[in-house]
Amino acid sequence: MEKLLTEYRKNLGDFEIVEFDEGRAAELQSQLDIDVPVDLHWTWNYASEAEELRALYERGKRGQWNAETDVDWRIPFPRDEWFLPKVGLQLMPSVLDAMGADDATCRAAAFDEFAWTFSQLLHGEQGALQLCGQLTNACPTMDAKFYAASQVVDEARHVEVMAKFLQRKIGTIYPISPTIKLLLDKLLEAPTWKMKTLGMQTLFEGIAVGIFDLIQKGSTNPLLSHVIRRVKQDEARHAAFGILTMRRTVKEATPEEMVEMEDFAFGVLEALNANQQLDMLQLLGPKYGLDPQNVVQMLQGVDDWGKFNSEVFMHTVVPNLARLGLITERTEASYRAVGIMWGDRFGAGIDSDVQASLRPQ
Ligand SMILES: [Fe+2]
Ligand SMILES: [Fe+2]
Repeated sequence: MEKLLTEYRKNLGDFEIVEFDEGRAAELQSQLDIDVPVDLHWTWNYASEAEELRALYERGKRGQWNAETDVDWRIPFPRDEWFLPKVGLQLMPSVLDAMGADDATCRAAAFDEFAWTFSQLLHGEQGALQLCGQLTNACPTMDAKFYAASQVVDEARHVEVMAKFLQRKIGTIYPISPTIKLLLDKLLEAPTWKMKTLGMQTLFEGIAVGIFDLIQKGSTNPLLSHVIRRVKQDEARHAAFGILTMRRTVKEATPEEMVEMEDFAFGVLEALNANQQLDMLQLLGPKYGLDPQNVVQMLQGVDDWGKFNSEVFMHTVVPNLARLGLITERTEASYRAVGIMWGDRFGAGIDSDVQASLRPQ
């Protein structure tokens, strides 16, 4: 199987990384027009064919909220206070603390890194908005079209709330990471609604649920906690749509289609992981005296590297793929080899918000 983003790969110790130079990153960021195939599908069956999706659509309608009026934007987000744990969650403050940096330096690095991560989540939300628009066209049943259309509104709200958070409370929106831009374009360019659903609803939404849950559990700022709580409840419905749709898709798939989906899932996650936050470290590391490649090499030398590296993946996306039968004996060892899978392939169980969204009304 050929890996994604092959032209940006190089070896760093025993690990293969994906890395961009500044010029190429800028080129990718300025590529705004993407030629994407969308199979538009009409249906004349207005009755419900997939009841579980209709139920999720109802849940989505009840769960609507207003990013302007349901968020108390007066709550401050101070630059000089800790809002996430100093060590363990964010990369730069953890490394700087281990190197003996003072608290103010760690805090400044934490703020910058958070601004970068939150900017990537914002750009990812725009990707989800675009992709759900495609799904509204391409999905075959009215239930799926209804659901995708309701998700379009959810994703517009997420773009709105995150852009406002960055503009009003942080003051910076960082450009999209070139790795994320290329992978989002891959999902938007995927030829069928099934592959688009696998890519966005199962892979990216699954990672999003993991990141949002880790931020939510660590956040000590009430505004951040509130915004993340709201967004994550929506994302859990989206992840549930991915699971429900992929369950049907997997049941009907031929062995060749299964191999295609298994390889696509591994390819996207592996490429994302191969960047090892280098896109962030290249931009922000030098400000704090951190050499990006040194940081990555140092981390990979730590005992149990795979355990903390896999945390976001093992939260939701990998266990979901395993439950769907999209991680098999053929591919499991590759997941483990690159530090995406660790311990039990089913992780610690289903996220409680995703579980709630899967429950019948
Ligand atoms: Fe979203
Ligand atoms: Fe979403």
